[in-house]
Amino acid sequence: MAARREDLQSFLEAASIAFRQFATAPSSQTSLQHIFAALEKPCAQRGGAGSRLPVCEVLDSAFWVDIHHDTLRKLMDRFKALEPILEWRTRTKNDGTASANFAEGHANAIVVGPGGLESREDVWLGVSLLAPNVRYPDHDHAPEEVYLVLSQGEFRQGDGEWFSPGIGGSFYNAPGIKHAMRSLDTPLLAFWALRVDAA
Ligand SMILES: [Fe+2]
Repeated sequence: MAARREDLQSFLEAASIAFRQFATAPSSQTSLQHIFAALEKPCAQRGGAGSRLPVCEVLDSAFWVDIHHDTLRKLMDRFKALEPILEWRTRTKNDGTASANFAEGHANAIVVGPGGLESREDVWLGVSLLAPNVRYPDHDHAPEEVYLVLSQGEFRQGDGEWFSPGIGGSFYNAPGIKHAMRSLDTPLLAFWALRVDAA
């Protein structure tokens, strides 16, 4: 197996440090231990250029949000360096809970995982971007998931109240739990890591 490209490896190292530092819930820590242990072994990587969607124009303001913590700043800087080779895509499934501007107002990119820069099934690490005032639809999936949020914005688990993790906020989604997110008057940018091998 070829070595992992350097910009991807640097991003994953920064993600490992940031997730483990900020995702302090015991369930998150257990999940992250497995996720980043699996990621020590590279899988096949896709070459070529990335592709942006029109909504990605809001990335510029998302990148320059005021981040005071060094670990998070480094994660954002390495993501910014990697972003031009990512393929941004939209979610096609919408159960009717999304806002009317959802289709043009969001994009997801898988860094590692199916269809990602590094294609693999055992763990997924990706990012979601919402333009201001967009509500992502309720959704669920079998793998457990840890979020690390790098912007303002609100999140919801099950039928609970919406909450604001803030920059550096994190939460754990148990397998199968319904969840959603929505941006307020600024873009929402959040990383997520799924442990598929435990599902
Ligand atoms: Fe999710």
